[in-house]
Formats: sequence, structure tokens, C-alpha cells
Amino acid sequence: MKVMNKALPIMKDIIKDMFLNQTPFEMIETFRFADLGCASGPNTLLFVSEIIDTVYKLSNQINNKIPEILVVLNDLHKNDFNNIFIVLPSFYEQLKEKYGYEFSQKCLFSGVPASFYERIFPRKSLHFVHSSYSIHWISQVPENLDNKGHIYMEKTCHPNVFNVYKKQFYKDFSSFLTHRSHEILPKGRMVLTLIGRNMLDHDPSENDIWCIYELLAQSLLDAVSQGLIKQSEVDSFNLPVYHPYKDEVMTIIEEENSFYLEKLQDFDCEWDPDDKLYKKGSGEYLTNCIRSISEPMLVSHFGELDLDYVFERYKEHAANNLKSNKTNYINLIICLCKK
Ligand SMILES: C[S@@+](CC[C@H](N)C(=O)[O-])C[C@H]1O[C@@H](n2cnc3c(N)ncnc32)[C@H](O)[C@@H]1O
Repeated sequence: MKVMNKALPIMKDIIKDMFLNQTPFEMIETFRFADLGCASGPNTLLFVSEIIDTVYKLSNQINNKIPEILVVLNDLHKNDFNNIFIVLPSFYEQLKEKYGYEFSQKCLFSGVPASFYERIFPRKSLHFVHSSYSIHWISQVPENLDNKGHIYMEKTCHPNVFNVYKKQFYKDFSSFLTHRSHEILPKGRMVLTLIGRNMLDHDPSENDIWCIYELLAQSLLDAVSQGLIKQSEVDSFNLPVYHPYKDEVMTIIEEENSFYLEKLQDFDCEWDPDDKLYKKGSGEYLTNCIRSISEPMLVSHFGELDLDYVFERYKEHAANNLKSNKTNYINLIICLCKK
């Protein structure tokens, strides 16, 4: 929620600027925006309703005809889009109540199941692109990765592990920008939020976001010592994720050269925020987050593994870490304008 609270005002300002200063409202018949990596949870429609609200208020403010709004939701093929589309009737009811029937009929939805590391929209078809917590998922586990006993970069890993992950992110993020540059209209905007890291270079003396994943590696190794899985199965499992340092992101944007970097904001989040559902310091909140993002990958790699055991161990490791380590991580909000 903290991330959304930071990103929303930035997005609203950008849309205001687009409409008031760059593309006059009357020229846009249909405002087309895409949410990339929308998943199937409640956050997506929250963002969507805020964007719709911003467009509605702006057009009233400047006394212009309200444009149609096309919302395109994207995620991988295996995403359960039905979980989103099933709540659309009640979303439309809310729109009707808030803005009236006529405007609710101008808000249109579609879904595009595909990887955002490919071309997925027609040329020059989008005014605005948003993506939250998705771009740090790279297209694949890097090839030639020798990372026995770990599942991601970790401070004790060989520097080559850092290099191959970095290379994969460079390749993926560059092609992400190139594909979007064909699809976004000139002066169209993009707001990307992702988890980054504190340090540019591999510093074995420092903890960083990778601790969160190393706790999962330790929990899997606990399962090995219980005879639940084989060591070789852990050795061959790695996460397709990369948390870049902000300078790395800036370099890629500059070198790819399709977008101006308008703003790059970084801010800290707690591993273990105050949350009504979870007891602070217990490790439960973090365990729940990590389980929800890693469970499909663990099931696909380890099959019948007893995940309740793994995540019980994770909770214990997490609780111990919360006592002794620096436990915040960096978020990056990147605002781009198509050249
Ligand atoms: C942690 S969820 C973020 C969900 C939502 N955007 C939010 O902020 O709550 C990451 C989503 O990115 C999606 N994703 C990862 N790689 C992707 C890709 N290459 N193309 C499209 N979606 C992708 C995943 O399937 C997942 O649904």
C-alpha cells in the first residue's frame, strides 16, 4: 500500500501534465492505457479507478468532452484473467454510481495475455503505460548460471552470478523499452515501479534485498536435510528476478534511447510493516508475501514438496533476521516520456 500511495500522486501529475500541457483533451477521442503485469489481485482495479477518476475530473475542469477510456490489462498467458473480469460488473456499478451511466459506458476493458518482453500492442496505440512490481521479473533464469546452494544473487555468491543476472536484466529491460517505444505515441508516458537494491556493486559485507530470497534458499536446504527433496533439485532452482541499482536503470534508458527519463524516485519500504493481519516481528508478513510470489515456481520445480514445512522454516528464519539485520528495501518509481 505504501508503494501505491507513493506512485499514485506521481501518475496523476503525469496524466495532468499530458492532458493540460501536451495533448489537448479535445484531440483525444479515446484515452488508451495499459497495465503491464496486472496479476489478478485487487491492486489493478484500484489503479485503474484512480486513472479513470483523474481523466474524468480533468475533462470537467477544463470543460471538455470526456474521452472514451480503453483499459488494457496484460499479464502472462497463465494469469487468471477471469479473477479480474469477474469483478468488472460490480466495477461498472461503482462507475455508474459515481459518474453516471453515460460515462460508465465510455470505460472499456480488454485483456492481452502475453509477455511484455515481446511486442504486444499495435504501433502508436497507447497514451500511457503503467506497471507495478512486474519489471523486476526477468524473462528467464540467466543461462550459464552456476549457483549451487542459492536461488538468487546473495552476498556470498561468486561475482559471476551477479554478472549473469545483470546481463539478463540489461537485455530484458532494453527490449522492454524498445517494444514499448513502438507502441506508445510520441510524448506518451510510462510509470514503472519495481524493487531495486541499495548497492551498485557486489559487496560481500553488506545485506540487501537478496536476504529475502536467501532465507528461502535456507528453508529449501532445511527440506534437503529432512530428506524431503534432493540437494541437486535446490542447486538447479534459481529465481528469474533482478533488482537493479538505480544507476543501472538510468544507463539502460540512456543507451536504449527511446525515452526521456523524467523522474526516478527511490524510497525505502520495511520488510515487516505494521499490518493488522500479521504480528510485527513474527516473520509472518514476509513469509506470506514470499509464499504468494514463489509458490507457483516452487510447485513447478519441486512438484509434491511440503510447502507448509518450507514456509514454517521461512517464518523462523525471517523472525530471526528481523531481530538482527537491516530490514528495509528500495523501491524505484521510473517516469518516462516517449521521444
Ligand atoms: C507481483 S505481481 C504484481 C501485480 C500488480 N501489478 C501489483 O502491483 O499488485 C507481478 C506480475 O507480473 C507478471 N509478469 C511477470 N513477468 C511478466 C511478463 N514477462 N509479461 C507479463 N507479465 C509478467 C506476473 O505474472 C505477475 O502477475
